[in-house]
Amino acid sequence: MALIVPSILAADVARLGEQVAATQAAGADRIQVDVMDGRFVPNITFGPLVVAAVRRHTTLPLEAHLMIVEPERYVADFAEAGADVIIVHQEVSPHLHRTIQQIKALGKRAGVAINPATPLAMLQEILGDVDLVLCMTVNPGFGGQEFIPATLGKIERLRAMIQQHGAQCDLEVDGGITVTTAAEVTRAGANVLVAGSSVYDDPNGIVAGVAALRAAVAG
Ligand code: DX5
Repeated sequence: MALIVPSILAADVARLGEQVAATQAAGADRIQVDVMDGRFVPNITFGPLVVAAVRRHTTLPLEAHLMIVEPERYVADFAEAGADVIIVHQEVSPHLHRTIQQIKALGKRAGVAINPATPLAMLQEILGDVDLVLCMTVNPGFGGQEFIPATLGKIERLRAMIQQHGAQCDLEVDGGITVTTAAEVTRAGANVLVAGSSVYDDPNGIVAGVAALRAAVAG
């Protein structure tokens, strides 16, 4: 069964503690903090301070998705703040193997993310070292964007690549995940789904948003 990972970018950040507690009560598997620096992506969001604040309001595993340049400079800060999983982008990690080792040396699970136009070949040499690969299904920077249909084929190819390699990593997707696309991406091979708008913008509330995604991937 796919894991559901709400991302707080779409939460009411003026009531973040309450929203995080409600997300856990709604049965989410993890929570993702979308970290953006205004350089790697055209938006600025959260830093280690917010991860530490979120940490105080949930016992769920926290993912820090670092959509930032020079992520290696900050992995220790996010580890210290309480992130359990630290995800860096391949596109800004020329020494990716070293950065993944750095995250694991901090006792955290390590993930690598790739943008829609980044070839899967860029993951070839690192698949065996990571705990998860995040295949972006939108161009990162904002919530509420449309799912990019061409990424479905990429997810299928990535799942085949993981199996061929004998890797044990999760295949996570992020961006435009709704009840419709959730079913499509899990059929294509994703087993961890990040969702912001479809959880926090559900007119019936967070519980309904998580439940709808859960039902959509139940098969
Ligand atoms: C990158 C962000 C978003 C967010 C999910 O832009 O990281 O993908 O997590 O946003 P939704 O689910 O609203 O597309």
